[in-house]
Amino acid sequence: MTIERMGVIGGGLMGSGIAEVNARAGLDVVLVEISGEAAHAARGRIEGSLRKAEQRGKITADDLTAALERIHPTSDLGALADRQLVVEAASENEQVKLDLFTKVGAILDDDEAILASNTSSIPIVKLGAVSGRAGHVMGVHFFNPAPVMKLVELIPSLTTSPETLDRMRSYVTESLGKRPIDATDRAGFIVNSLLVPYLLSAIRMYEAGYASAEDIDQGMVLGCGHPMGPLALSDLIGLDTIQAIGESMYEEFKEPLYSPPPLLDRMVDAGLLGKKSGHGFYPYSS
Ligand SMILES: NC(=O)c1ccc[n+]([C@@H]2O[C@H](COP(=O)([O-])OP(=O)(O)OC[C@H]3O[C@@H](n4cnc5c(N)ncnc54)[C@H](O)[C@@H]3O)[C@@H](O)[C@H]2O)c1
Repeated sequence: MTIERMGVIGGGLMGSGIAEVNARAGLDVVLVEISGEAAHAARGRIEGSLRKAEQRGKITADDLTAALERIHPTSDLGALADRQLVVEAASENEQVKLDLFTKVGAILDDDEAILASNTSSIPIVKLGAVSGRAGHVMGVHFFNPAPVMKLVELIPSLTTSPETLDRMRSYVTESLGKRPIDATDRAGFIVNSLLVPYLLSAIRMYEAGYASAEDIDQGMVLGCGHPMGPLALSDLIGLDTIQAIGESMYEEFKEPLYSPPPLLDRMVDAGLLGKKSGHGFYPYSS
């Protein structure tokens, strides 16, 4: 059964991108944020991103209008009741996600509806356990910016049914045209297990006064051919998100390389979250 009605919880960096990807693929999207104001802001972000896609010739003006009409922003979780799939992309906070999975698991009308999380590091099995529908819960990890990045990690937990995994694989490949890879339910999955210790090492290097932010980034761009240096990439991902992922990975493996360095903690305390807050390792104009 093809998924036609889906929902996204959280309309920040990732949630707004995931909503856009689904709307552009022709799905009907309910987008739930914590308040009417936040839902409105999420819609604004999506419209801005669609306008850029139109200017670059990726979509037509009609595509833009049609995609926006398919997205229904709201602050009411109850609006998810008739969805066949919900992708949770709220802040990387275990308690927030456990509360959402408890509530949304009970809200969904269809017993076959799938409840997926875009978490980067929180155990999928725990989200399944509180949802009352563990067989229909799994991780589906998009990459930033979701409308551009082709990769999606699929993460079944110990309790996810094989049918749920099959349905999500078809959805990702056939409906969204993205490339899935299979990961195990361990904090960080494949990509962040490799990426996060690298980013944290760059932050430690900067913190120790070893080199300037610009030189660390240029080193990896010009010396290794990366499209972006580690500090600029950290700003793009969001320093609060990297801190949360590092904490979850450290909690799981007790590997010191995963532990957030003090500078990262202080920057998050100061509200220096990277591009989304206007300042991180670099300043950004809105
Ligand atoms: N930033 C990245 O590059 C990236 C990449 C892949 C996955 N992720 C994961 O995606 C998720 C979201 O990350 P993000 O970068 O979009 O964060 P973000 O801070 O940009 O957005 C999170 C959004 O969730 C909303 N939210 C919080 N609690 C909510 C609730 N109870 N109900 C509805 N909305 C709620 C917030 O208002 C905010 O707009 C996290 O689990 C993160 O680990 C992030």
